[in-house]
Amino acid sequence: MREQDAYLSEAVIGGSGNGCKLGQTFPAPETPDASHIDQSVELAGVRLKNPVVAASGTFGFGREYGEFFDLSELGGICCKGLTLSPREGNPPPRIAETPLGMLNSVGLQNPGVDAFIRDELPFLRQHDVTIIANISGNTPEEYGVMCEKLSEAGVDLIEVNISCPNVKAGGLAYGTRPELAAEVTREAKRHAAVPVMVKLSPNVTDITEIARAAADGGADALSLINTLRGMRIDVNTRRPILKMNTGGLSGPAVLPVAVRMVWEVSRAVSLPILGMGGVSTGEDAAQLMLAGASAVAVGTALFADPFAPLKVRDGLVGIAARQGLSAVRELSGGVRPW
Ligand code: SIN
Repeated sequence: MREQDAYLSEAVIGGSGNGCKLGQTFPAPETPDASHIDQSVELAGVRLKNPVVAASGTFGFGREYGEFFDLSELGGICCKGLTLSPREGNPPPRIAETPLGMLNSVGLQNPGVDAFIRDELPFLRQHDVTIIANISGNTPEEYGVMCEKLSEAGVDLIEVNISCPNVKAGGLAYGTRPELAAEVTREAKRHAAVPVMVKLSPNVTDITEIARAAADGGADALSLINTLRGMRIDVNTRRPILKMNTGGLSGPAVLPVAVRMVWEVSRAVSLPILGMGGVSTGEDAAQLMLAGASAVAVGTALFADPFAPLKVRDGLVGIAARQGLSAVRELSGGVRPW
């Protein structure tokens, strides 16, 4: 039996009824020198210096997190979702904790695409990091207008959000109907001078249907998963915790759903995938990459630990080193299904 197998079976025995051996410590696996590991990846022809992106809606426009670390350390920053006009978002309460996650019903609060280009993009551009603009529209035409403005302004990639569960117009209406998903993608592609990545919703019966529709519409990449619709209720007041009644679930609880969906989509279409959903460690990120993602986004984990993306990056590099790889991207699609 290999040493590694012994380590695993001991853990399984302890967890399956023999009782946890309190006080017993397992030696941390040795981390070989990882300085030779190539961290760079490609997403729709755009080079990221490492595979870790700050997920949209969890990083604002980077200013606050820039007080903790140099934003150039990241592979990419996906900005808070933009709309054509400014939006105040939904009324509070619009955030609620859940077991191993959180619900949000923010409702796309943002200053609008023009203010982003004027006030935020110049700051972001001071850093050596790939900038991804996330956009939501009320109509396919609005997506087109924003793609044109953002391409001219010089973002590197546009994430077309057809999966926000917290707005009445656009959002999920586009992300759950293949023909509308394809139409929005086509309109975005017609006006974008940079690659277009379509963000998919998990709130569908078959995510590969929407993935194929986005591919048919000309998407250069896909990102998944957005949040799962959920609800919490205060049993004393009998009121939902969120003012909008429902919201989107994110955090570690959704990771297995994300891994499964990335795996399904990667087998259905041949587009690069930005995988996300509950990533807080290098191992979580490696699961998404093995399932088929080219890069990963870290979101909810940022609220508990602003350094989470850097820890995820270092964890991924450590896994690549321990597995004898020369580049982190070699993990992509490497799952060995039974
Ligand atoms: C929100 O602002 O409501 C979240 C955005 C999203 O889930 O796409």
